[in-house]
Amino acid sequence: MKSQDIRRQFLDFFESKGHLIVPSAPIVLKDDPTLMFNNSGMAQFKEFFLGNGRPKSKRIADTQKCLRVSGKHNDLEDVGFDTYHHTMFEMLGNWSFGDYFKKDAIHWAWELLTEVYGVPKDILYVTVFEGSKEENVPFDQEAYDIWSALVPEDRILMGNKKDNFWEMGDQGPCGPCSEIHVDLRSPEEKALIPGRDLVNGDHQQVVEIWNNVFMEFNRKADGSLEKLPAQHVDTGMGFERLCMVLQGVQSNYDTDVFTPLIQKIEGLTGTRYHSKAPSAEAEKVNIAIRVVADHVRAVAFAIADGQLPSNTGAGYVIRRILRRAIRYGFTFLNKKEPFIFELVAVLAQQMGDFFPEIKAQEQLVANVIREEETSFLKTLDQGLQLLENLVKDSDGKEISGDKAFELYDTFGFPKDLTALILKEKGMSFSESEFDKAMQVQKTRSRAASEVATDDWTVLIEGNVETFVGYDQLENEVRITRYRKIDSKKDGVLYQLVLDATPFYPEGGGQVGDRGTLSSGDEAIEIIDTRKENNLILHFVRKMPNNLKATFIANVDGALRARTECNHTATHLLHQALRTLLGTHVEQKGSLVAPDYLRFDFSHFAKVTDAQLAEVEAFVNARISDHLALEERRSIPFAQAVSEGAMALFGEKYGDNVRAIRFGTSMELCGGTHVRNTADIWYFKIVSESAVAAGIRRIEAITNDAVRTYFADQERALENIREALKNPQDSLKAVVSLQDENTKLKKQVEQLLKEKARNLKGELATELKTVNGVRFLAKQVDLDPAGAKDLAYELGQLGNDLFLVLATAADDKPMLTVYISKDVATEKNLNAGTIVRELAKHIQGGGGGQPFFATAGGKDVLGIPQALEAAAGFLP
Ligand code: ALA
Repeated sequence: MKSQDIRRQFLDFFESKGHLIVPSAPIVLKDDPTLMFNNSGMAQFKEFFLGNGRPKSKRIADTQKCLRVSGKHNDLEDVGFDTYHHTMFEMLGNWSFGDYFKKDAIHWAWELLTEVYGVPKDILYVTVFEGSKEENVPFDQEAYDIWSALVPEDRILMGNKKDNFWEMGDQGPCGPCSEIHVDLRSPEEKALIPGRDLVNGDHQQVVEIWNNVFMEFNRKADGSLEKLPAQHVDTGMGFERLCMVLQGVQSNYDTDVFTPLIQKIEGLTGTRYHSKAPSAEAEKVNIAIRVVADHVRAVAFAIADGQLPSNTGAGYVIRRILRRAIRYGFTFLNKKEPFIFELVAVLAQQMGDFFPEIKAQEQLVANVIREEETSFLKTLDQGLQLLENLVKDSDGKEISGDKAFELYDTFGFPKDLTALILKEKGMSFSESEFDKAMQVQKTRSRAASEVATDDWTVLIEGNVETFVGYDQLENEVRITRYRKIDSKKDGVLYQLVLDATPFYPEGGGQVGDRGTLSSGDEAIEIIDTRKENNLILHFVRKMPNNLKATFIANVDGALRARTECNHTATHLLHQALRTLLGTHVEQKGSLVAPDYLRFDFSHFAKVTDAQLAEVEAFVNARISDHLALEERRSIPFAQAVSEGAMALFGEKYGDNVRAIRFGTSMELCGGTHVRNTADIWYFKIVSESAVAAGIRRIEAITNDAVRTYFADQERALENIREALKNPQDSLKAVVSLQDENTKLKKQVEQLLKEKARNLKGELATELKTVNGVRFLAKQVDLDPAGAKDLAYELGQLGNDLFLVLATAADDKPMLTVYISKDVATEKNLNAGTIVRELAKHIQGGGGGQPFFATAGGKDVLGIPQALEAAAGFLP
């Protein structure tokens, strides 16, 4: 059975059991500070378990793109070494939100596996939670009883808290679970060791395929469990593992999810993948191929969902995954040029039908990956050279662990690669020293980003918060819940949730509102507003005195108005770019702040000045047209799209969406906007640059910021005119100044050359012969370039010269050492070494070639000593 059919059958089965089938959420999470990536199918439904929102249906099923590379669930370092862990994988899942519970979940799982898919019952084992005294959660008798009606008792195993109590993170919904494991070994192997002894034992052919979690608890910040308001089911089946079972192979990498990628890698690198590696060498190649095949999926899907590789946060995780693949390719597949980007086409071909985002953005994803590969391969090259130098300066046995760490930290040069190269030279480095340095750095960065989050204190139960900020900037509100957060970065803050708020939470690029919350004489500043899953959080530095009071929540209208100008301008800019540059332009990032806007978009070349001028004119024409805002709060998604609104990849849309139209610009957007484009007054682009391969960035300003910008420009021009003594035509005056300056420069150069010639005559008489070398050490009244010329001029006098010239132009001491080539070789003198020694007297350093070198320094007063010391180098 093809993997596509396997996926389809899962969804069809649960649809037939009354489940609503929903698309996978984007792999990158936007509104959950506790998670960077979707690490399980349930992550997008977290709030439904906690009771903070209501699902569209009580039964939902999907296949979710998951990434387990950070936080509680992190498999990154295992990937490649075994055949069943991945960075990105698909999790097939079915959910009950306060609807069916253990009985249906277990029965359906069994029915689907054994009857629909036809998996033989005698290769399956199931596990049940044995209970935990520490947590005060009993043995799961109910699950046991349900299972024992389906499978022989010797196939039901007890599982401990580590394996059979599932938690999404340090906090959040959790509960006992029941897993289904499969034993794919041969009958001979089974005869030797029974499968039940290998369940949860890290055996590559005895693996978990499906986890059924019975969500009953919430893990609180203090570590305790509280009962959830209702009981839920959360299940997750590893799609790739299921394919392994149903396609009768022994490894996920032998399924059709991976074989096309692997074949392509073999072709590109001239290597061979073996289902069973015949030697240790071949296994190294195997591991590298698995790493590349796995990682390209994670990276490609993350980019397609809008997460570019970068130096911070989620972008950095993606960059690290890609770099891991690049270096495995570099070291073990011997591939020194970019090649991973070529796998994107295979991926798009293979998965594009079910995940259109990868097909639609194939070119962009490939470009970004290629550029990352090119630049990291360069870094690897530099690292190799650095390592070469370290080896040269070493005792021939070891380089320090600190140095190896420096290579890793500064140049992204991985530890195992360093070890490998050193090993080839019979050398090593201290791993414990390396690990210590790594630990120190980790502790430092963890301490810097640590945030302690308290549990919510709920003041008003059952309220589902509403946002009223499209229509009003002020509202009478009450606090429904609050909690304290303590971060190393921002100190102690409180987050308040209100019953109905006019505050816009950061989202869709637009920054969060600021303002006040007041009651009676007390006014508290709201310093930021953000969304977390379904909640709108208002950040304050101090809690109000009376939490139960009625407050007036007041948004800072001036800031909001400036932000709205930038938001509407962003829509017009997007339209301008798509109209003038082409429809390949897609939004890839956006920041809408009160003082400026930043817009990232896909486009393959620099936007020329002429194009930027056109874009500006396009937007300003729409501002002059006084286009009124047409807002539709809730129209069906399909209708909005058919009317021309563009859905962005990596965004999650509901069935009904909000559509914003200004003239012919229409976008799906949750943000706030001006009432009429005339409010923007004027739009001005201030910069255009590259963010990544195929992604450009425009920064622009509107309204008051443009006024200030024009005023600044005018003032600058005034100052220039004044400095030029207010000529009739400033430009002409500047050009004539430039001409004059060029002429004068030439004259000065001429004069300096003459001076040097005169000096040459003078100095020639001062040369002293010592041991067959003519020597001179002297300070001259020239600039460094003049001293260099002079040294070369003097050099014409013969093959027996050793000259040291010092200059102090602009109070910067500078030394120039010239040694005739013959002297340098015969007397073994090295201008580079000498200048470095002499530079110590002027508190500086330098270098060069054996016959010519220069050094700069800080201490002019050291020149006489330096010159005196020069004689010491005479042979
Ligand atoms: N949430 C459960 C898991 O990820 C199903 O294993």
